[in-house]
Amino acid sequence: MRLLVCGGAGFIGSTFARQRVSEHGDDVTVLDKLTYAGREENLREIAEEPRFRFVRGAIEDPDAVAAAIETGSPEAIVNFAAETHVDRSIAEPDAFVSTHALGTYVLLEAAREHSLRYLQVSTDEVYGSIEQGTFTEQSPLAPSSPYSATKAGADLLVQSYFHTYGLPTLICRGSNNYGPYQYPEKLIPLMILNALHGDSLPVYGDGMQVRNWIHASDFAGAIGHVLGHGQPGEVYNAGGPDEEANMTVVSRIVELTGAQESQVEHVSDRPGHDRRYSLSSEKVRALGWVPRVRFDEGLEQTVTWYRENTWWWEPIRSGDYRAYYERQYGRSLQP
Ligand code: NAD
Ligand code: DAU
Repeated sequence: MRLLVCGGAGFIGSTFARQRVSEHGDDVTVLDKLTYAGREENLREIAEEPRFRFVRGAIEDPDAVAAAIETGSPEAIVNFAAETHVDRSIAEPDAFVSTHALGTYVLLEAAREHSLRYLQVSTDEVYGSIEQGTFTEQSPLAPSSPYSATKAGADLLVQSYFHTYGLPTLICRGSNNYGPYQYPEKLIPLMILNALHGDSLPVYGDGMQVRNWIHASDFAGAIGHVLGHGQPGEVYNAGGPDEEANMTVVSRIVELTGAQESQVEHVSDRPGHDRRYSLSSEKVRALGWVPRVRFDEGLEQTVTWYRENTWWWEPIRSGDYRAYYERQYGRSLQP
């Protein structure tokens, strides 16, 4: 397949791009604005492949989108491009609104103009929090943060293009991803790097919030599967095999890194913090997808990856991320 992968320089988008080029022989054009979270080095492994090309630009810019389509002549658009950190959406929601609402609209219009299949990468957060049981694709949308509300808005716009214009759209909603190349603002890489540096490990509130963890390679596989086998107009959830309380995840990272339990510090809770996510994946499993990586094994491999790939995170941890950390946590990181 010839694919336009928007947001393909980020954590999951680059995992997907590497997987499609290396394992499926697809032709991939990445369109990415390269925000703080977009890293061209995430695509280093495939950068020299003749079946791969990179275009820098924003999805809300119709000229950039037209140029990327001209460059790659895609048969389908897969849209990962998003602002993805809930804490940043609470502090500064602007970019979340423009990328998710306007950006998705521009891509849908381009898909309509060129008759392309369109897959929107979405999140379990659009369903809100669930105390017991698990969300299915039929669960009502009840997002809690500016991040999840704007993602839900984008999903609704995508579905309107199927119903109104007959555009062949698909939506794939994932649970919490982890693995190599994840920007260290997110729980797992933040805790790994802080643990390795002797920084404190800031747990929000009581730390008993539960997340449903999926390895990024499994989520990327689910997206490829839905793109190839999904029914246009449908939504598919892809959740990981394991649910864990944040405190369990942090204690396991302490063990795996050889850090001290005394580094763990309970800090002020996130406003509007969702207590638990849980996602049923029966619909995508019925298409033949299964997650391969169990959390225990995947977390250990992830800790090893961060230990061994200082080239990747050192420029981040010594750059703008330090100022972000000070604003968010009210303290500095160790040099
Ligand atoms: P990320 O923050 O690592 O990467 C986002 C990428 O999008 C970056 O490369 C960034 O430069 C690019 N981007 C941002 N705004 C853009 C714009 N306006 N135009 C073009 N490019 C832009 O994100 P991620 O964790 O890889 O998430 C990718 C997608 O998966 C998002 O849509 C997110 O909502 C969804 N998702 C993430 C998770 C998770 O746990 N990380 C779980 C489920 C779904
Ligand atoms: O569920 C899918 C979503 O998962 C994605 O759509 C989002 O893009 C992604 O960021 C993620 O959202 P979360 O808010 O669940 O992830 P985050 O890594 O920010 O936090 C995970 C949990 O850990 C959450 O309960 C908040 C808590 N946490 C997080 C940070 C950064 C802490 O206790 N301390 C922290 O410093």
